[in-house]
Amino acid sequence: MVTSNNTTFIPDIAHSFKAQAQPNIALIKYWGKQNIPGNVPAVGSLSITLEALRTETVVRFDTEMSADAFVLNGASNPIGLPRLSRCLDLLRHEAGTHCRAYVESENNFPTAAGLASSASGFAALVIAAGKALGLQATRSRYAQWAREGSGSAARSIYGGFVEMYLSKNEKTDVITEPILNPEEWPLEVVVAITSTDVKSVSSSAGMEHTRLTSPYYSHWVKAQDEDLHDAREAVLARDFERLSIISEQSCLKMHGLALASRPGLIYWSAATVACLHAIREMRAHGHPVFFTVDAGPQVKAICERQAAAEVARTLESINGVQKTIISRLGHGARLV
Ligand code: PMV
Repeated sequence: MVTSNNTTFIPDIAHSFKAQAQPNIALIKYWGKQNIPGNVPAVGSLSITLEALRTETVVRFDTEMSADAFVLNGASNPIGLPRLSRCLDLLRHEAGTHCRAYVESENNFPTAAGLASSASGFAALVIAAGKALGLQATRSRYAQWAREGSGSAARSIYGGFVEMYLSKNEKTDVITEPILNPEEWPLEVVVAITSTDVKSVSSSAGMEHTRLTSPYYSHWVKAQDEDLHDAREAVLARDFERLSIISEQSCLKMHGLALASRPGLIYWSAATVACLHAIREMRAHGHPVFFTVDAGPQVKAICERQAAAEVARTLESINGVQKTIISRLGHGARLV
């Protein structure tokens, strides 16, 4: 067994390695894959990493184990195991080992409910596993491995505002880069949780169904570079108004595509829609806030810091909102 540094890989069975990562929320949405293996996105995307929601993952490699083991939130998770093992295989390949791993992961927020737990989960996994295997890889290599676990996980390797885009020369070459640190534009996010149920159609299944059946899909792909460019400029200029408009449009376009697929995908609940109206109304009254919604019924209200408490109060008063979480922007995945 040989590592990438040409030294023999001896699993450090006495030690567990722990990493933390935070979910990220896309302002310009990734929806659609060009290649399902490897999760190569059909479109670029732009996200913010959240501080208050966290995944902590512990990894230990062990030569005595005949299969990987995965415990999620305190319970064995056989459903998530094949995907986790496929991602670990990439790192094992790099390290030149077949050694199996024990993985234990904990989220401080609802799992698989439209709060990007797979993004933080795979980002934390690759960072902890890479350390356990003694790999000396760059952040962009970790982003690539995380993406192969879950498309959006590449963005959680970094903090603040992060862009994931397709290389101009090689369209299957995916580049993930931070564009602003959290401190450079300290926006906040109010997450309105309207349900903690596991979503009925996963993002991967939903985007593939949309690609195959939505009449608007090709236009979505064609227009994305322009949206990404607009959002990047807005972020670099700290132009809240401009970012509000392009982000809400990207979110509504993504859901518009999904709604128009056959049969249409409806990720929203009545409370989701009520939150969107309330956010629009707050903005009309001068509060710097805009919304985004992923593949689930939760609403994320992005706002300037001084508006966060009022936005949370307003969203909490809406029928069907179970609770709100206020978050600053967070940093990238790291060992803890
Ligand atoms: O990475 P996935 O397969 O969970 O897909 C993420 C899809 C959205 O959250 C809806 C959009 C995005 O860019 O994060």
